[in-house]
Amino acid sequence: MKFYCNKVIGFTKKAVRLSIGGGYIKIAYYDYIGNIDIAGNWIFYGDNDGLVYGKNRRKSKKRATRLIRDRICTFNAKEAIMENSLPKHIAIIMDGNGRWAKKRFMPRSFGHRAGAQTLNKLLKEADKIGIEHITVYAFSTENWTRPKDEVNSLMNLLREYIDDYIKDNETSNIKIDSIGDLSRLDEDLRNKINTLKEISSCKKGLNLHIGLNYGGRDEIMRAVKKMYGELKSGNIKESDINEELFSSYLDTKGIPDPELIIRTSGEMRLSNFLPWQSTYSEIYISDKLWPDFNINELNKAIEHYKNRDRRFGGR
Ligand code: FPP
Repeated sequence: MKFYCNKVIGFTKKAVRLSIGGGYIKIAYYDYIGNIDIAGNWIFYGDNDGLVYGKNRRKSKKRATRLIRDRICTFNAKEAIMENSLPKHIAIIMDGNGRWAKKRFMPRSFGHRAGAQTLNKLLKEADKIGIEHITVYAFSTENWTRPKDEVNSLMNLLREYIDDYIKDNETSNIKIDSIGDLSRLDEDLRNKINTLKEISSCKKGLNLHIGLNYGGRDEIMRAVKKMYGELKSGNIKESDINEELFSSYLDTKGIPDPELIIRTSGEMRLSNFLPWQSTYSEIYISDKLWPDFNINELNKAIEHYKNRDRRFGGR
């Protein structure tokens, strides 16, 4: 029996749920071997005994794997599905920490601290499911206008975050760097960030890009100035200038554009976050305040993304 699947409904840690038409749903384990037809549909070979449902999962999983391997062994289904449907890069505007704290009659710094914990939980999950890049807006060029004690508490939280990473460095798989103009940060913090980048540079897992004193317009102005300098010194010619070259002067050089941007707390704007890079990003607004944005919410956002019809201006 041959099952055609053209829709991935959801992911669990070990399996995907697939729609196979006629209202039927199939659960397929990642280590099954399937095949891809010319239309890009995933073809799953097996029979009813190969469907894995209910109590006897382990036994039927083994049996189905054997059945499938006996028939056709050409493609790794997990890679195919992941490649087609998961965003490689998710950018997040972590909004709502202040309101979350206020609801609990606590200072705003309490909300930011809870927000940092939320971030850590989500990073682990995102790494596990195969997201390659996460960019977060931790401190914008506009955030300097907040009361001094809030700015200080955010900077101290960052210091702590880095110290914790360095302390537990061996247990982490995450590679960290930053986007934004670090020159306005205190020297000790800049040094910590450099150490962090160095220590994490050998990591093979998810790439976390932290926006620090980041503003999209500021990033573009800095890029224009750098490019102008290169032009004046003759390192580049006017005819070299194109989108690709310009992108290479941005802080996000080498990072793919985010396919998905998530903003929490129900606010519907990008607030100077990645204006160049977000041209074709899908935007997902969650009503949750950032500290309440859990793994379930992340999966919901990814599901939404997967159901969007991305046409990039074409038809
Ligand atoms: C916006 O919400 C949030 C920020 C300006 C700070 C975000 C920073 C963190 C979550 C800290 C974690 C990051 C690292 C890397 C240490 P808001 O407080 O303005 O929310 P409000 O609109 O409810 O006031």
